[in-house]
Amino acid sequence: MNPIKHVAIIMDGNGRWGLKHKKSRNLGHRAGLNTVKKIIKSTIKNKIKYLTLYAFSTENWKRPQNEINFLFKLLDSFIDKKISDFNKNKIKLKIIGNIELLNNKLRKKLQKSEQLTKKNNRLQVNLALNYGSKTELIETFKKINKNKLHINIKNIERNLYTSNIPDPDILIRTGNTQRLSNFLLWQMAYSEIFFEKKLWPDFNEKDYNKILNQFKKIKRNYGNI
Ligand code: FPP
Repeated sequence: MNPIKHVAIIMDGNGRWGLKHKKSRNLGHRAGLNTVKKIIKSTIKNKIKYLTLYAFSTENWKRPQNEINFLFKLLDSFIDKKISDFNKNKIKLKIIGNIELLNNKLRKKLQKSEQLTKKNNRLQVNLALNYGSKTELIETFKKINKNKLHINIKNIERNLYTSNIPDPDILIRTGNTQRLSNFLLWQMAYSEIFFEKKLWPDFNEKDYNKILNQFKKIKRNYGNI
């Protein structure tokens, strides 16, 4: 049975869900946030230590301003409402991505939340915000260059946003689309990938457990036989 340390998720399909239900794309994002809460609970139940959620990519700035504003407002109020629950439940929050571009108030709130929860060790939730794998790799190589380090696997991994985090065992992408969208390209070299037809707001604990059980049966060879 494969142990599961780390699950990464591309939460795709919120916009389509909102439109399908004759509402707006933004209401789809709100519904998607409910799935986030359920999946965090279920990740704890399954004793998985790391969960990485792709909340906003470096490419998502191309969306209409109204949708961008809505997403960051949703994040802001999620932090206000949930950070003390995170702490009570021993969940550590870590942001991966370049948050310099976010407004000051939100950036400080996120940094404060990371600080508040940094000693928690039941589950680490990595929230990918203004995250892009290509940008992450460029920043990593710049740091290596600045510190005059050799370019090797160890030094690259130590300088990624995800240093000290094991690589994802599993990637789940909902929304019936089969691509990686610039997400954790280095880290997912050997991840098992599960593409899920359901839109993110419809994804539930049962679907999640089904994937976790499927994963446990896979023989992972890492190039061996
Ligand atoms: C992709 O669906 C989803 C996003 C770009 C945002 C994800 C955000 C949430 C799940 C809610 C907020 C989360 C937190 C943690 C505050 P899409 O909009 O690309 O869907 P589409 O493919 O149907 O257009």
